[in-house]
Amino acid sequence: MRTLRTVAELRAALAQPRREGRRIGLIPTMGAFHDGHRSLMRRARSECDEVVVSLFVNPTQFTESADLAAYPRDEGRDGMVAAEESADFLFVPAVSEIYPEGFATTVRIGAVTEVLEGVHRGREHFDGVATVVCKLFNIVAPEIAYFGQKDVQQTLVIRRMIRDLNLPVQIEICPTVRQPDGLALSSRNARLAPAERKRATALYQALATIQVLLSAGETDAARLLAAARSELEDPLIRVEYLQIVDPDTLAPLTTVDRSALAVVAAWLGNARLIDNLPLATPRTRSA
Ligand code: PAJ
Repeated sequence: MRTLRTVAELRAALAQPRREGRRIGLIPTMGAFHDGHRSLMRRARSECDEVVVSLFVNPTQFTESADLAAYPRDEGRDGMVAAEESADFLFVPAVSEIYPEGFATTVRIGAVTEVLEGVHRGREHFDGVATVVCKLFNIVAPEIAYFGQKDVQQTLVIRRMIRDLNLPVQIEICPTVRQPDGLALSSRNARLAPAERKRATALYQALATIQVLLSAGETDAARLLAAARSELEDPLIRVEYLQIVDPDTLAPLTTVDRSALAVVAAWLGNARLIDNLPLATPRTRSA
């Protein structure tokens, strides 16, 4: 695996494989690799000839400077993980390489950025994500880019951008990787104190409760959400949102009679955690 730090170096390294028609896959990341990141790398390795992992803690998508300052960074360890997963290139640009002096462009996507994370973190978060991912697509020009279901709203934002801007990239969404107790892997889990870590499983429990009741025939969103909310009643947990939404528009549903998505965001101590679960209704399953 080669670690490259400039756009020029990476483009030069990919020129020959591209000429040979080799399939290039990109996994955009902010590092602090865990098994969720590994699963994306493995999937790319099995489908692509050249696997590029980008590692860039993108300052423009952080709406709180303390969150950016606290973001875990360990390039040495991340490099070892990416090499273990047989990535071909680790692209680690400096902030000045991505945002040079005078940088003045923002990719802003409407609609799907205006709810859930867009409300609670601020839509500037998705401006930052869309702008950096658009740049990475232009820098790497991958045939396929890999994203995690864990950040479902992010996947919808990227899909919208690809369609609206005619970007020649296919995206693949990989399932959420979880701890044995259901907690979705996240670099922010490291901020949980032991008691908070123990209770953090409640997010997944709340989502799973919705699926259980739905499978038993309950389709009223208010009743499903009330049951889920009781899983989250705990002095250690401060819920920001818990909703059942349309999987494409993220608009709230009142009756769950078609494919849907349960979404949650909550604070435990200093950690803000998000999770989601695609819901299968008895009808969507038999269809
Ligand atoms: P980051 O949080 O590092 O995540 C990189 C990719 O890993 C994202 O596509 C994310 O959805 C996926 N991922 C994270 N946790 C996962 C889990 N438990 N299971 C499966 N996939 C998981 O998301 C970002 O970085 C940034 O916003 C980025 C897209 C790189 C733009 O800066």
